[in-house]
Amino acid sequence: MPTINVLLYTILKKFLFNSYCITIVSDAPIDLHLNSLFTYIIPNRTVDELRDQLLEVSERGCSDYIVNMVDQVLFMTAFDKVSKIGNIRRSDRKVILIPAPGNQSVDAVFSMKEINNIANLLMIIPNNASEQECQEIYDLVTHKFEGPDELVYELIKQPILLDQWDTCKGEFKENANLFPHNMNNLFGKTVKVATFTYKPYVLLNVDTAITPTGRDGLEMRIVEEFCRWVNCSIQILDEWQGQWGEVYENGTGVGIMGSVVEDKADFGMGALYSWYEEFLHLDFSAAEIRSAVTCVAPSPRVLASWAMPLLPFTWNMWYAVLMTLLFASLGLSMAKGSFDGTLITVFGVMISQSQKSAERNWRVRRVTGWLLAAGLILVSAYGAGLASTFTVTNYEPSVDTIQDLVDRKMEWGATHDAWIFSITMSNEPLIKQLVSQFKIHSAEELKRKSFKRSMAFSIEKLPAGYFAIGDYLTQEALEDYTLMLEDFYYEQCVVMMRKSSPYTEKMSALIGRLHQSGLLLTWETQVALKYLNFKVQQEVKLSRLRSDVGFKPLDLHNVVGIFILYGIGVVLSILIFMVENASTKKSGLRIEE
Ligand SMILES: *[C@@H]1O[C@H](CO)[C@@H](O)[C@H](O)[C@H]1NC(C)=O
Ligand SMILES: *[C@@H]1O[C@H](CO)[C@@H](O)[C@H](O)[C@H]1NC(C)=O
Ligand SMILES: *[C@@H]1O[C@H](CO)[C@@H](O)[C@H](O)[C@H]1NC(C)=O
Repeated sequence: MPTINVLLYTILKKFLFNSYCITIVSDAPIDLHLNSLFTYIIPNRTVDELRDQLLEVSERGCSDYIVNMVDQVLFMTAFDKVSKIGNIRRSDRKVILIPAPGNQSVDAVFSMKEINNIANLLMIIPNNASEQECQEIYDLVTHKFEGPDELVYELIKQPILLDQWDTCKGEFKENANLFPHNMNNLFGKTVKVATFTYKPYVLLNVDTAITPTGRDGLEMRIVEEFCRWVNCSIQILDEWQGQWGEVYENGTGVGIMGSVVEDKADFGMGALYSWYEEFLHLDFSAAEIRSAVTCVAPSPRVLASWAMPLLPFTWNMWYAVLMTLLFASLGLSMAKGSFDGTLITVFGVMISQSQKSAERNWRVRRVTGWLLAAGLILVSAYGAGLASTFTVTNYEPSVDTIQDLVDRKMEWGATHDAWIFSITMSNEPLIKQLVSQFKIHSAEELKRKSFKRSMAFSIEKLPAGYFAIGDYLTQEALEDYTLMLEDFYYEQCVVMMRKSSPYTEKMSALIGRLHQSGLLLTWETQVALKYLNFKVQQEVKLSRLRSDVGFKPLDLHNVVGIFILYGIGVVLSILIFMVENASTKKSGLRIEE
């Protein structure tokens, strides 16, 4: 067996014994006598062909590779492409590179930026400068992965020597761990975090007197805890312009998600939901916060007071009253034997007016008597109804559910369409209608609109009972808004990373620990009390308990409706009087006053 194969066999047995499957990419046949599952690839010469070959094994779950190729750069390029287009994500990939003898492609590989995306990279380089009698010494080297950025980029071309393999003795010199980057200690490695100020998830540019790092927030604390755990240092990429952004089909993007997909940042966060479209391009951590999206809608108003005189009776009742008037007049006319003045008499009786004179005729008296009794009941019923409408205030119907919002055709909105990413794909007619009523406005525009009661504003309900409310909603405006009863949908927030990022597993493990300890709920409360406007929170939280349904003395506002009726009556009668006056003057008669 060639010596390199003995070395490989030893490494596999020692470090990759629990690997799910190993892929060997080799120009020349290698015989390893492996017991574990492995796939053998004879690489093609172009990047795209090699990519397709690697994609196939990657989709089957292979995470570990042995590469025995002349052109290592070609492999690394194709390998990086596979991790972007493949669906299977592996955080803990291991790659062993064996450069062809005599080829100085080592430097070329170590200066590629793609190798930063793999934690465990081992290169086996034959050491020709060996002066011992045994000529076959192999250097086992890896790339500089840990430590701050300045150091990483400075040392990137100087690989780290982990150990040496002595072929004659058939043993390692140091017996070192050949895959030392287990993500437990990153020695101050710089991690870039793309985010923007979105309370209470992330707060940037905070006064350093309040918090020494100048940043805080529910999710920010997760990353800070992460860096405390694995010893990394945070560098913030403020995405206030693109906000959440989006990922395009061609693998580029804008905003937070764009920065992560383009490898400008290691982590993306700021209330990023587990959106399917984005999952195709990025890695998600375990879910950290469950957030529900709903709206604050304009509170129902007290009904206009001109309608008040009509409220005691329903429309059917009013119809019955009208019919009573007509039929009673008919009855009275039949009793009297003439239609003269019966309609006005009956109308008078029904609004409890006294009669001009008593009739001699007993037939008419009997009918009038029953009418008086009926009128009395009608008037008392109306009076009682009117008293109750004056006492208990009546409101417009409220906006409590999605159906209410859709029925009212009320616009709802925010500053970015990330609010509807989760529901745009829905086929349900109600949700489709809801999506079509969503509008994007600038923060200033939203603030202006919040005083006009013309639209609803989306907010997030967080697990510990606080709300994520845009700064454009002020306490003054919110006094006129009520929290809707129905949630539009709920979502799990995640931290986004590049596909197959070495951080994914570690981050998910941390989030699991945070859930277990209940720290996330505590943080939410702490951050909310420290940075959120407490009055705004209370205004929304208690918006359904607001009790302005007190009892109070009647004022002009209550009776203005009745005065309107009175005013219309007076104006009409004056007009009719003037018309009559004019027409009688013409016929030469004088009106006595
Ligand atoms: C050495 O490797 C480089 C790139 O990795 C490749 O372009 C070149 O053809 C190789 N040279 C030889 C002699 O194999
Ligand atoms: C964390 O990293 C720094 C280098 O940035 C190092 O000096 C320190 O010892 C590390 N801490 C631990 C606990 O290993
Ligand atoms: C990717 O697509 C977006 C929008 O579709 C476009 O603006 C951008 O220029 C494209 N980028 C590349 C590199 O093709």
